[in-house]
Parts: sequence; C-alpha cells; structure tokens
Amino acid sequence: MNIPEIIEQRVAALLASMTLSEKIGQMSQVNASEGYAPDYLADGLREGRIGSVLNVVDVSIVNELQRIAVEESRLGIPLMVGRDVIHGFKTIMPIPLGQAATWNPAVVKQGARIAALEAATCGVNWTFAPMIDISRDARWGRIAESLGECVLLSSELAVAMVEGFQGDDMAARGSIAACAKHFAGYGAVESGRDYATTNIPETKLRNVYLRPFKAAVDAGVSTLMTSFSDLNGIPATANEFLLRQVLRDEWSYDGFVVSDWDSIRQLQVHGLTENDKESAFEAVSAGVDMEMAGDAFSHHLDSLIEEGRVSIERIDNAVANILRAKFRLGLFEDPYTNPEVLPPIASEDALQTAKQAALESVVMLKNDHAVLPLSAESLQTVALIGPLADAPYQQLGTWIFDGDVELSITPMHAIHSLVGHDLDVRYLRAMENSRSKASDSFDEAVEIAQSSDVTVLFLGEESILSGEAHSRADISLPGDQAELVRRIRETGKPVIAVILAGRPLTLTNIVDHVDAILFAWHPGTMGGPAIADILFGLESPSGKLPATFPRVVGQIPIYYSQKNSGKPASWDTIAHIDEIDTRAPQTSLGMSAFHLDTHFTPLFAFGHGLSYAAFEYHRIWTSSNEIALGDSITISTELTNQSDVAADEVVQLYVRDLVASITRPVKELKGFRRVHLKPGETLTVEFLLHTDDLAFFGRDMRITTEPGEFHAWIGGSSETQLRAEFRIVPNN
Ligand code: NOJ
Repeated sequence: MNIPEIIEQRVAALLASMTLSEKIGQMSQVNASEGYAPDYLADGLREGRIGSVLNVVDVSIVNELQRIAVEESRLGIPLMVGRDVIHGFKTIMPIPLGQAATWNPAVVKQGARIAALEAATCGVNWTFAPMIDISRDARWGRIAESLGECVLLSSELAVAMVEGFQGDDMAARGSIAACAKHFAGYGAVESGRDYATTNIPETKLRNVYLRPFKAAVDAGVSTLMTSFSDLNGIPATANEFLLRQVLRDEWSYDGFVVSDWDSIRQLQVHGLTENDKESAFEAVSAGVDMEMAGDAFSHHLDSLIEEGRVSIERIDNAVANILRAKFRLGLFEDPYTNPEVLPPIASEDALQTAKQAALESVVMLKNDHAVLPLSAESLQTVALIGPLADAPYQQLGTWIFDGDVELSITPMHAIHSLVGHDLDVRYLRAMENSRSKASDSFDEAVEIAQSSDVTVLFLGEESILSGEAHSRADISLPGDQAELVRRIRETGKPVIAVILAGRPLTLTNIVDHVDAILFAWHPGTMGGPAIADILFGLESPSGKLPATFPRVVGQIPIYYSQKNSGKPASWDTIAHIDEIDTRAPQTSLGMSAFHLDTHFTPLFAFGHGLSYAAFEYHRIWTSSNEIALGDSITISTELTNQSDVAADEVVQLYVRDLVASITRPVKELKGFRRVHLKPGETLTVEFLLHTDDLAFFGRDMRITTEPGEFHAWIGGSSETQLRAEFRIVPNN
C-alpha cells in the first residue's frame, strides 16, 4: 500500500470509531488567545469537542493543549494549531504585494519556508496563507496581503508560497499546512470597501478569480478558507457552487475548507438566514468542513442531523477531509513541538532572505537624469526627511501578529551605518506620522534640505492604513506630505522620494516634484538595509509593479488586462476637460473609453520598474507562425544590458487572443523570468507556450483554446510594443 492509501485507511478506521459529538468536535475551531489553557478549553479537548485552535503561540501552552487532546481525550486526535503567518513570523518579509513585486517565485518560496520554520518553533502547524484574491482595486486595504492584479503572477507565486510553507515533506518538522484564501472573489468587493458585496460574472470568476485557487489546489494546498463576502447573492461561506461544484466536483479537492472568522454566523447578518442554526445548515450543506471561531456548528449540527436535514455522510466527508490533513501533517506520529530541533528564530539565513526579498521588491518608478544611485564619494551631505525614515514598526506592514519589531532595521539606521562615516547624514522626521496636518517642522525641513546636497524623503502610509478592514477612498499620500514635497522641491536641490505603503498610491500630485521615486511597499524587517543598498548603488532596483498605479482614484478599476471595448481610447481620441470647447457638439470629444478629466492610461503600468542598468530588447521571434492545437510554440527575445551596471531584469511575455467566442483581454501575462545580465551582456530568453496555456472558459463554461490569430509581446513592462504574431489551427 502507498502512503495515500494508508492514510485513507487510517482515516476510515478512525472515523468508524467516532461518536457524532467527536465528529462535530473535529469540525470546530476555537480561539485560544488567552495566554494560558483555560478550563473550558481543557475540558473541551478532553471531551473531543475541539478539532483545532488558533492564535496560541506559546510553545508550552501549545504542547499542553496537544497533550490533553492526545493523551486525555478518548481517541487522542491531535490539534491543528492555526495562526496568521502571512509574510513572516518573527522575521518579517515584505508584505505579499511587495513580494509579488519581486516576480521571483524562488525568493517568495524561501520567505514562506522561513516563516514556516519560525512559526513551527511555537507549535503552529497551520498558517492562514497565502491570500490569493486577485486585487484590482487599491482602495481595498487587503490588496497589501494579496499578490496583485494578475492571474499568472498570482498563481505562480501562490504555488511558491504553498511549497514554501508545506515543504517537500509535509510531515517533516518545520513544515506547516497552508490555507489558500479567501475562496472566492473577495478582491472584487464593491468600491474596495472591505467585506462588501461582490458581483462577478461566471466567465470572469473562472477566467480570473478562481485560477490562482486552482493552481494552489493542484500544488497540494492543505486547506482553503471561505471569503467573508457575498458572491452574486450567495455569501461565499454558503456558496454551494464554489464549495461543491467547482472545488469538489470539478477540481476533486480532498483537503478541508474552513470558514473565515465567525463567517458562518454572519450569514444571518447578510440576510441569508434567520438564525445560527440555519446558518450552520447553509454552511455545512454548501461544503464548509470546519468553523473558525464560532459556535454555530458545535451548537446546531447535532439537531440538524437528528432532524435529517444534514446527512451523516456530509459530516463524515467533512471529518475525513480534516483527519486526512492531520495525517498528512504527521501530527499523529509527532504532535509535540521541540523548538531545539528547528533553526533559531531570525537566523542569518532568515535575515538574508528578508533582505533579498526586500531588495527585489523595490520598484523604481522614475529616475530623472539618473539622479540615483547616490554616490557616497561625491556627496557631502544627505538629508533624510519624513515620517517613515525611522519607523521600525510601520515598515513591517500589515499582519505581523508575531513580528519582532526589535529586529527591524530602518532606512535611517541602515543609511547611517552604510555611509555615515563618509558623509554627513541629517535626519528630520518633519511629520509626526503620515497623516499629520501640522506643518510646523516644514521650515526646518526646508533649511536642512537647502543646506544638503540631496534630500531623500521617506513618505507613504503607516501599516495601519492597509490590511483587513483598512480600506481608503482616497489613495493619495495622506496628511500634508504633498505639501512637504512641494516645499522641499522649492529648494531646487535634488529630491528623491522613497515611498513605503501597503497599496499602490495615486502619486499624480507629487510625481513631477521629485527627481526619483523608489516604491518600497512595507518592506519588512530588513527594509532599511535593502533601501540603503539601492539608494547608494550597491544593488540596482529590479522590482516590477504587480498592480497598476492609477492617476486618480476615479480610474479604478484600472488594470492591464482590461477588455478592448467597442470604442477603445487612444492618443488620437482623447480630449481634456481644460482644452475642450464647451460649445462644440456633444459628439466631438473623441467618443472613446476615457475620462475627460484624467487620461486613459495609468500613471504607472503593471510590470513597470526601472533599473540602474539599461536593457535593450532587440527583437522578438516565434519558433513558427502556426501551431496546431495541442502543440507548443517558443517565443523568444534577445536583450542586451547596455550599461556598465550588472542587474536583474524581469522579462515579461504577454499574449492577446484577437478574436474569440467571448471577448478576451487586450493583453494577458503568459510568462515571466527574472534574469541577471552583466554589463554589456546579451541574453536570449525563451518562453515555451502550450496551446493549453491560452485556454479560457467560454460561453459554455468549458475551458478550451480556440484556434485563430494571436499577438505576443515581450519586454520589461506591460507597455512593451515589441510584438510577434502567430496562429493556432485546429488539430486534424
Ligand atoms: C479574518 C481574516 O479575513 C482571515 O484572513 C484570517 O485568516 C482570519 N481572520 C483569522 O485571523
């Protein structure tokens, strides 16, 4: 018998010996954040009424809870111990959106691996990550926790995270179960308000929102979490289409589904049910296996079964899914945690990975006249000004329950240690925080800037302004930051903005007042050294935007893979509100898809990111002009590093299906690769594309690749114009 068969046998044997109350116990997760093992918890464990706990990270308490479950309960079933280990445990990696800006699955996987190893030292064996909700609305605070707007980038990085958390062997010490969340559609909440409604047509759901989840399921993710949101009238936690039809019938998923925090009881608040009992009925019937931090299952499942409304088969199926995950994790063999056998917290390796991830996540949005990198040799004084230059907690970002702020190295400290011996580094916070409207320190800031060779402004938003339930309607720099920029600009000295934020911001009101912008997201523990190295040219920036930066909030949703529409905007068809003749006929203003008071393009496009090197893409070519369905094509480019700086570049491949039975995006990312080029080096990069990679769900909701004409582009951003064409023909 192979291991999966042995596990199935053990699941069946255990299930056969369980009482109904023990089964319902496995389906119930309890918040255990008290900091000790209270009596109700210990009793619940002894009586087999709890299958999982969350939010306990004291290893001695975790071991004690496991001991009670394993040694004092009738069946000795160990516990899943859950925690939000989202972008690091003690050592904090950049926020997931920043990690996505690396376009580097290897560093993302390593970051998740380190998070798993550190969390495992405290007995955590289950993280509620990765969050893989496609996010196309930067107002939504949870975009910080996402991997951005793109299906392919999110899917590949989702797989990297799952592999990092779960390791090569899930039963090995230091591997923890992952949880793909939030199933599904959460990123489409109306106007970016957290928890709000989503309305997503089925083709869009399948072609966009579900794809990263399918990738995570194929990669063996242990668990899935439902979304808080309402999807097309049925909240995700009661959504049979998602949880049964798609997940089980179509994808054959055999892991388990946990609700979000109390989201079962919230079905009543949504207006779907009258009371907790009906909520339990809807959720379990739809396919939720475990309830997080609520008591609808524990209070009502038994009577629902007694009344014959819920079948014992459904309960057995839910419990089997949960037990299977516990067996796969090796918990029955090894339920206890011995931190001594795991690598130490904040090891050299962990800090190095955090620094590498931060380095690769920084996106240089602009760099006029090559003002960057700064030269420690030719400068004498540098001014560091702004609320986020020395904010060790804020740079860590959202979701850092366990993050160790003591480990955090700020840009101010890192710059001092890097160049403090060679030049005069002057620091002024200038604003108490990013939201501050007090400008009393601005005169002093101007004086410092005036008497320095260059000013680096550290701007952005604190971590509290993004993340769960932290959405914003205005995503420009908060407080008086734009005014600070304007005042510093007036000195006539070079100004560089380093922006730390949990989302894309609208930078229109400052972009022309600074010479360079480094967008650093919330870069985590090692953000300071990474930013210092980039500012002073020890490393070249190499991050690329994982989400489009709008000019104004009214452009949202704006994303690179939009549809063409019947009247696409172009430079020839647009008009601007300041230039129009108000007496002109209504039909004279271009008549295309744009806003009169802004522009049809974003401020910075998806995939954009500059380098200290200069990459020239010479050409694009395909291995043939025509391929048959079922075959592959190679699409290649040759690029040269035309500079004397060695640097990474992220080479991106986009494809458009020109005519199809449903309208298709104007561009979809179909491949990307981070490559390193030495000065003067020329490299050929090839992408192998199978016709299945171009498949989509059409009118009949079946996934197919349709023959026809395709365009392919390769370049360093989604705005690349380097194009090739090919054709797919039926396979006779
Ligand atoms: C609610 C959040 O939506 C979810 O992402 C998180 O994992 C749980 N709370 C547990 O903290």
